[in-house]
Amino acid sequence: MAATELERFSNEEKRSLSLGGHVGFDSLPDQLVSKSVTQGFSFNILCVGETGIGKSTLMNTLFNTTFETEEASHYESAVRLRPRTYDLQESNVHLKLTIVDAVGFGDQINKDERPIVEYIDTQFENYLQEELKIRRSLFNYHDTRIHVCLYFITPTGHSLKSLDLVTMKKLDSKVNIIPIIAKADTISKSELHKFKIKIMSELVSNGVQIYQFPTDDEAVAEINSVMNAHLPFAVVGSTEEVKVGNKLVRARQYPWGVVQVENESHCDFVKLREMLIRVNMEDLREQTHTRHYELYRRCKLEEMGFKDTDPDSQPFSLQETYETKRKEFLSELQRKEEEMRQMFVNKVKETEAELKEKERELHEKFEHLKRIHQEEKRKVEEKRRELEEEMNMFNRRKVAVETLQSQSLQATSQQPLKKDKDKKNFFSLPSAYSITTGRYVN
Ligand code: GTP
Ligand code: MG
Repeated sequence: MAATELERFSNEEKRSLSLGGHVGFDSLPDQLVSKSVTQGFSFNILCVGETGIGKSTLMNTLFNTTFETEEASHYESAVRLRPRTYDLQESNVHLKLTIVDAVGFGDQINKDERPIVEYIDTQFENYLQEELKIRRSLFNYHDTRIHVCLYFITPTGHSLKSLDLVTMKKLDSKVNIIPIIAKADTISKSELHKFKIKIMSELVSNGVQIYQFPTDDEAVAEINSVMNAHLPFAVVGSTEEVKVGNKLVRARQYPWGVVQVENESHCDFVKLREMLIRVNMEDLREQTHTRHYELYRRCKLEEMGFKDTDPDSQPFSLQETYETKRKEFLSELQRKEEEMRQMFVNKVKETEAELKEKERELHEKFEHLKRIHQEEKRKVEEKRRELEEEMNMFNRRKVAVETLQSQSLQATSQQPLKKDKDKKNFFSLPSAYSITTGRYVN
């Protein structure tokens, strides 16, 4: 088909036609339902709230079961995220439910929200990596992205803690936040009303975006808009069953009365369950994918240098981005290589200069030692000469003495009378030779 013809065809208005009889594509929604049911669903809840605020109890109450629980200690050194996944089944629908506890949050000095933000990002990153794989298996991929964050507010009746505001602000662009007032049975009705208003106004004034139940679907618009006005839900959790009238209900029993979990005049538990599980679970999953994950993906890809348009706002394909990035990478590589080569040359020069300097120093040292050695040698030589001279002198004197002795002996034998005198002369001869003075001493 020629290009102009193709253009004309795509620009043509779509015409509505009536069918002559039943074709069968009206079963598409049913096919979709059947496929989803076979595939099963996953739903991931993040519980953020201080230790002992009632997170585990509320989860057990919401899903009417007993999940594994392990009390958190108050001595965790940092906030730790603990995910637990369960397979639940209701009628023929399978739900893979993951409950993630932010253990130690709000408890210690090191109580900040960073580990929570990191955990949420890691789940997005894992999904993105799966999406970017050549061979991806998103169909049976265990999606661990957090669909909702139940933020447990302590029922102080005062105002939100700054930690709550900071944490919710950090999380609101990453996850759907539903704030709930925990242990609502510990706060009076009038205080609760004021507390709710205070919380909402604080959230608004701090620009914290909490999850709004959607009002664009006619079927749920009314109930959702009514429920939006009830936020934050004030909940009570309990798995204990108490007999009220002739019925067993989940409640908390006190000396002054019974708080029924599912009684709407006692607390908002039913509202929470209705909104979270029965009406908006799919919207929470969808918002996670289309809003929060999309934002993460966009930022991440932009960070990696991918973009949809070039600086002139012209479409920029993935291939072009790849080529540009490749060129950038290669030139960067070349630059780094050149830098390293230069660095290497400089290093060699430096080492060479250092070696030369060392050689010069060694040479100087050697010359100095040589001079000392020659001086020593000269002194020793001189001493030797002196000693030799002294030895010669000694020998000469020795010979002289011996001659004298022999003459004296001869004379003695010829003139016995002169014996004593000669004897005296003989004994007056030097008796020792001093090396230091070079003379004979008596
Ligand atoms: P960690 O996991 O250790 O941080 O605690 P948690 O937040 O899971 O609290 P958990 O559900 O273990 O409850 C702690 C205590 O609070 C238990 O004694 C519960 O019975 C009690 N509790 C739970 N929910 C409520 C509630 O709605 N009202 C009141 N008054 N007490 C509650
Ligand atoms: Mg717990």
